[in-house]
Amino acid sequence: MKLLITGMAGFIGHAVARRLSGRGHEILGVDNLNAYYDVALKQARLDDLGDCPDVRFRRLDLADREATARLFAEEGFDRVVHLAAQPGVRYSLENPHAYADANLIAHLNVLEGCRHQRVEHLVYASSSSVYGANDKVPFATDDNVDHPISLYAATKKANELMAHTYAHLYELPTTGLRFFTVYGPWGRPDMAMFKFARAVLAGEPIEIYNHGEMSRDFTYIDDIVEGIVRILDVVPGRGTDEAAGGAPYALYNIGHGSPVALMDFVRAVEAATGRQAICDFQPMQPGDVPRTWADTEALFAATGYRPRVGVEEGVRRFVDWYRGFYGV
Ligand code: NAD
Ligand code: UGA
Repeated sequence: MKLLITGMAGFIGHAVARRLSGRGHEILGVDNLNAYYDVALKQARLDDLGDCPDVRFRRLDLADREATARLFAEEGFDRVVHLAAQPGVRYSLENPHAYADANLIAHLNVLEGCRHQRVEHLVYASSSSVYGANDKVPFATDDNVDHPISLYAATKKANELMAHTYAHLYELPTTGLRFFTVYGPWGRPDMAMFKFARAVLAGEPIEIYNHGEMSRDFTYIDDIVEGIVRILDVVPGRGTDEAAGGAPYALYNIGHGSPVALMDFVRAVEAATGRQAICDFQPMQPGDVPRTWADTEALFAATGYRPRVGVEEGVRRFVDWYRGFYGV
């Protein structure tokens, strides 16, 4: 099978490429290597894939309409895992236009490429942030998600709506995956896992938002990857989305399935590093949601898989990786 992985120099894209390599596929990864965070880390992820002869890389900006159309026409893919995006909830208040380019225009260009090349399955990243400040937990994919509270969340919800129209109009099988706060080796420097471990190991304070009164369904990278890989084989057929006229359109949560209090996450970082955190308690950040918690029953019903790595183990694995990678 010929696979496209977008955002392959990113945290999740790199891990998906590594997991799918060696299984008889031809894999092409694309990424624009933008400078949202340390480009050297993105390059190191690509270098790490250097021992995978079945993985190629092309640097490409998916917001470039012609370049993306050419990519699809030249290469032709059977299935696409679309992970390229501008992530981050809080940054979307500072730089809204980055989200329009990467999450709306680029997503449209990918949908168009898939439609014209008759791709058999497009799997794309959505986000737990679409649930907004919902207090009905756990979050299930048929919950109302009409009230995003950050522009990031709004663009991720828009991705789902756009995918639905392509499934409906062109019978393009699409599956949206709502990932829940992903952490683990090779993780993103803008996220809590990385920021907390870096600062605690350096003896610097960590900022704790909403005075620690928050919880997240922290999900270990290997569990996210396993969910993606299994869902890639669950191609929605006509009739999948009965509520919307039978379009080949599906949506799943991929989360651990249990909320962790932010301060318990900090305790796990302390245990894994053997150092005490210096906590700088801050107010709630605009755009942040107070809690997330995934209902994972639909994922289990479709794939027989339940995420399994708990936060103590996952944080320890991140800290081991971080110490080795940065030599601290
Ligand atoms: P990441 O930033 O590490 O990876 C995204 C990659 O996409 C980056 O390498 C970036 O350079 C690339 N990219 C951005 N715009 C591009 C463009 N126009 N053309 C080509 N490449 C482009 O982020 P991640 O954590 O790996 O997230 C992957 C996907 O999962 C994103 O869609 C994100 O919104 C979603 N998601 C992530 C999390 C999480 O906790 N990490 C949670 C929910 C959803
Ligand atoms: C993360 C990703 O950044 C988004 O791209 C993604 O879409 C989202 O998960 C998701 O699940 O959909 P977030 O949950 O904010 O967003 O992840 P982190 O930045 O790792 O934050 C985790 C928790 O730590 C949050 O409660 C946040 O408020 C808190 N935090 C974060 C701090 O207290 N201090 C910090 O310096 C950073």
